[in-house]
Amino acid sequence: MRRDDRLSIIFAVSEATPYAKTGGLADVAGALPQALVKLGVEVAVILPRYRGERAGTVGRCVKERVDVPFAFGTKTVAIYADEHKGVPFYFVDVPEYFDRPGIYGPNPSEEYPDNVERYAFFSRAVIEWARQCERPPDLFHCNDWQTGFIPLYLRTVYSAEPFFRRTRTLFTIHNIGYQGLFSPTLLERFGLPPEVYRTEGGIEFYGSASAMKAGIVFATAISTVSPKYAEEIQTPEYGHGLDGLLRARATRLVGILNGVDYEEWNPATDPFIAANYSVEAPEGKRLCKADLLRTMGLPEELDRPVIGSISRLVAQKGFDLVREAAEGLLHTGIMYVLLGSGDRELERFFRDWQRAHPDRVGIYLGFHNELAHKIEAGADMFLMPSRYEPCGLNQIYSLKYGTVPIVRATGGLDDTIQPFDPTTRSGNGFKFFEYRADRLLAAVHEALRVYADPSLWRACMENGMRADFSWERSALQYRELYERVIAGEGPFGEPT
Ligand code: ADP
Ligand code: GLC
Repeated sequence: MRRDDRLSIIFAVSEATPYAKTGGLADVAGALPQALVKLGVEVAVILPRYRGERAGTVGRCVKERVDVPFAFGTKTVAIYADEHKGVPFYFVDVPEYFDRPGIYGPNPSEEYPDNVERYAFFSRAVIEWARQCERPPDLFHCNDWQTGFIPLYLRTVYSAEPFFRRTRTLFTIHNIGYQGLFSPTLLERFGLPPEVYRTEGGIEFYGSASAMKAGIVFATAISTVSPKYAEEIQTPEYGHGLDGLLRARATRLVGILNGVDYEEWNPATDPFIAANYSVEAPEGKRLCKADLLRTMGLPEELDRPVIGSISRLVAQKGFDLVREAAEGLLHTGIMYVLLGSGDRELERFFRDWQRAHPDRVGIYLGFHNELAHKIEAGADMFLMPSRYEPCGLNQIYSLKYGTVPIVRATGGLDDTIQPFDPTTRSGNGFKFFEYRADRLLAAVHEALRVYADPSLWRACMENGMRADFSWERSALQYRELYERVIAGEGPFGEPT
């Protein structure tokens, strides 16, 4: 008998704030479960116990032994637990895989060569841990390739396990560009049957095995993080080779826009910024601008427009366009501030650019949460020229901070940003469509024309600041999706 009729969800993920973060996935895993708990859903988040959590005082050991069959033997792991804002978090402790610097690698441009093995093991450990719980979860909510093994294990190795007879899976694609490809020779090591290595209905992908494909093929339902991206990944341009499969499984694919945790990202309460402000009392933003310029070593020319960016510097994010547009950008009279890290060549370019224009360009290479908040508050505009963007969170944070987004119209950027129209005063930002440096510059010019008219600019800022992207709405959509999947409604009741 069920203890109660609340949905019980195990949310498996490779990173989650406030514990471990490289990008937006962590923000989602930190905030969505909170919103779900508020809606009465029982959610447990589970992630690896990385070095960061071991070094601090995070959590207590709640299970000393979970035996996980793997790599031709059995590995025993411990489970730690902590609670954050009403959400239980669990950590799989397996030092040989996770007691290392960083998360996916020692630094943002270097990955551990055994990453697929690390997360295959994590996935199996999540299942073994769940098996020891009092009752089975209704659904495993899996996120990105790192947890794509969970649906695969459940539908193969554990398919005859009565405990999981009614358990379903949802696989959320946060970024289809990262697929967890590996040699099929590893399948045996992971305890997976060789027949899963096939093209139709299996995980073969152009001569490799794919953990992303495992999630898409074997999950009961698939979701992604914006409606637009749900359409885009079904096209060859954005599908990274999986568009055909996604078209074939389109009835199971749903796009749910990410939300924002306004407890973390709100200029009215943000503890990291020089002065708090809001749409009713906006004066503080000017102080934040002065503080940002000081922090970045730039002259305090408060009337000069400042464009900011915060990003992983990888091909997805489109900073090759910024490099191409660099001269033109400075020609417009702006100052540019960037916080980011990743691609070494891009890092070098930005460092050199700053050296050449120390009074106009401020660059911080690295990961710095406090500075991210200062940029959101202190910049006038926020630039995200992404080649593709499943959802993107910074443009939504920017709206709240009155920092007008200039974006390329793709994925969640296209869903969240509407062009500002000076005649109707509607819209919250500026966007360009074609992936070209001259189009980026044209959007910046357009933004600057509006900026030059303080009343219009205020209107544009206010449209953004008043918008509500809180998690509540998205969490309702997730809850409804969970219910439909668990009930086996429509396509979710058909054999996969
Ligand atoms: P993605 O997950 O693709 O990196 P998102 O826009 O969804 O993109 O989320 C990025 C998140 O990571 C935001 O919270 C952003 O502030 C943060 N972030 C990215 N780079 C840095 C950095 N160098 N320092 C601090 N925070 C960063
Ligand atoms: C990925 C995507 C980003 C999205 C985030 C959270 O990292 O690149 O667009 O916002 O996941 O879903």
